[in-house]
Parts: sequence; structure tokens; C-alpha cells
Amino acid sequence: MADAVQTPQPTFPPRIFSGIQPSGGLTLGNYLGALKRFVEKQEEGIETIYCMVDMHAITVWQDPEKLRQQTREGAAAFIAAGIDPARSILFNQSQVTAHVELGWIFNCIARMGWMSRMTQFKDKAGKNSENVSLGLFAYPSLMAADILAYKATHVPVGDDQKQHLELCRDIAIKFNNDYKVDFFPVVEPVIEGAATRVMSLRDGTKKMSKSDPSDQSRINLTDDADTISKKIRKAKTDPEPLPDNLDGLKDRPEARNLVNIYAALAGHTPEQVIRDYAGAQFGTFKPALADLAVAKLEPITLEMNRLMQDPAEIDRILGAGADRAEAIARPIVDQVYDIVGMIRSRRR
Ligand code: TYM
Repeated sequence: MADAVQTPQPTFPPRIFSGIQPSGGLTLGNYLGALKRFVEKQEEGIETIYCMVDMHAITVWQDPEKLRQQTREGAAAFIAAGIDPARSILFNQSQVTAHVELGWIFNCIARMGWMSRMTQFKDKAGKNSENVSLGLFAYPSLMAADILAYKATHVPVGDDQKQHLELCRDIAIKFNNDYKVDFFPVVEPVIEGAATRVMSLRDGTKKMSKSDPSDQSRINLTDDADTISKKIRKAKTDPEPLPDNLDGLKDRPEARNLVNIYAALAGHTPEQVIRDYAGAQFGTFKPALADLAVAKLEPITLEMNRLMQDPAEIDRILGAGADRAEAIARPIVDQVYDIVGMIRSRRR
């Protein structure tokens, strides 16, 4: 962005950070675009820090009891999907105050113009921009703080978070420039795989989202096998059979979406899926996709349900994760206070 000038980038040790809002149940989009890939990163042996971003969730109204429930459910989904709280750090944002402290400092670094260009803000605020919370406007600056409180270098996300990560880069660059330091890394978005943007099952031009009023538009990680299967069989499609190459899906957003979902669930490329199903009717492809989705998702849902039987254990895991997160973030944010010129004379 205009007033951000690139400084030479010193090397920072690789560290992954990512977050998910507990603002509703998780969807297949969250699973394929984020969660599944979080597990892959953990398995690559890189340091991984994952967060239920409850402070972000309250930028729009959340019922307090539901928020607590959804935060636990999200954590259960992480674990059920394969996140091992002993290897990855798993916690909820509000338990580590370094996030909001750094978020404030970043509010003083980020420019109004940068924020006003955020398409997610514009989409969420719609015609109502006078009446949304100030927090919703400042949302990306807290997101930058989440990442940079750990000096994370890589951030796996779905495609919709790309612009927020560009802003995180701009904040890091401007902070480094303003204070003449090489303190923050300029993060790399990690947006990869066949399902970086899973679309609605009712409209292939709209993102699958937990906030869509139609439950038929998404697969929730809490859906049982029968519901998953029905939703896929009823998904909107066109009357043509599947083509024999990806070009043939160009103007067929619903068909393209189902092929991408199949590929991501199976761990194949979309090209492979098209090769296997060239010429197939949806009457054949949809049941195959439904069976695959149930086979992959049902064990996660069952494990989530089992974990949710013991909320105290989930809270314990989040607390232990927060202790480990705090041990990394506290000294980093303390150094930021020194850099910006705050007196820190309390005995600790
Ligand atoms: P959130 O909670 O909306 O979504 C969590 C993750 O899921 C991805 N995702 C999708 N991927 C593919 N297709 C979809 N239909 C789909 N829907 C959601 C999102 O891209 C995201 O990776 N601002 C973030 C949360 C956040 C964060 C952070 C992320 C806060 N601080 C720091 C990374 C680093 C958000 O609202 O995600």
C-alpha cells in the first residue's frame, strides 16, 4: 500500500499461526480451507500455533453462552480433525492479553484508508456501515496482532483472508519503518490446495459460510451422515455430464465446486477427479461424493461429540495452550512496548 515501504527482510525461524472464529458452527469450508491444512502443517513438524479467536467473534453480537459453547466446539473440532494439543499450541485468544495489547498498537499504525478498503468489512457492513461496531472496522489490525505477537512467518488460510494478510504485511513493514527496526517478519500467506474457496451448495458463486441463512447451503461439521448425504444429493448442479478436462468447468461454478470438494476430501488434484469421472452424470458423481464426504467427516463429528461430553477437559486444554502461547507472546509484546517508548517500571 502507498505509505508502506519495503525494508530488507531478516530471517525469522518458521512458525505457523492461524485462527478460526467461534462465531457459529464450523463448515466444510473451514475444514477444507483451514483445519485440514492446519493438521498437515503440524505433521510437517513446523511449530504450529492455532487459536479460537473469540475477541474477533464479538465484533458482531454473540450470545455469551453460545460463544462459550462454540469456542469449545471449535476446539473439539481441531482435536477431532487431528490437532494434537501436545504438539501444536491450541488456545482461545482472550486468554492471552498480548493479542489485544498489540492490536491497540497496530490500530495506531494502520491507516483509515487501508481499513476502508477491506472487502470483508464492506461486505459485512453492507449499507449499515454507520451502525456496525468499531471493532469490526479494526478487525484486521487485531488479526495482524494475533500473527505478529508470535512473529509467525506463515499463515495457512482460505482465499477469503488474503487481503487481511496483505494488510498484516503492510502493518509489519510500516512498524519496522516507523521505528527503524527489523522487528516483525513480513508474513507469507499459505493459500494452497484444491479447496481454498469452498462455495455454497445452493449457489456456486457464493462462498460457503456459517452465516448463510440457508442450512442447505453448507455442510456443518456437526451434521450426521444422513444430513451430509442429503445435502450433497440436493446440491444445485447443471444438467450436463462432467467434462473430460478442467476447462470444461469454467462456466459451471456448481460443478467446479463439487469437483474441488471431492479433490480436497480425497487428497487428489481436481485434474485427477475429472480424469476419473469424465462423462459421468451427477446421478453417479453426487452419490460418490456423498460417500466420500461421510467417510471423511463422520469420524470427526463422532469424535467432536465425544470430546464435547467433557467440557472441563476442553477448557483445561485451552488453558494449557494459552500458558504456552503467553510464554512466546509476552516477551515479544514487551519488546514492542519498549520500542514504541512506554515506561515499564512496575515490579513483576
Ligand atoms: P473464519 O473464522 O471466517 O474462517 C476460518 C478459516 O476458514 C477459512 N474458510 C474457508 N476456506 C475455504 N472455503 C470457505 N468457504 C471458507 N470459509 C472459511 C478461512 O479462510 C479461514 O482460514 N479472520 C479470520 C480469523 C483470524 C485469523 C487470525 C486467521 C483471526 N486472526 C490470524 C489467520 C491468522 C476469519 O474470520 O476466519
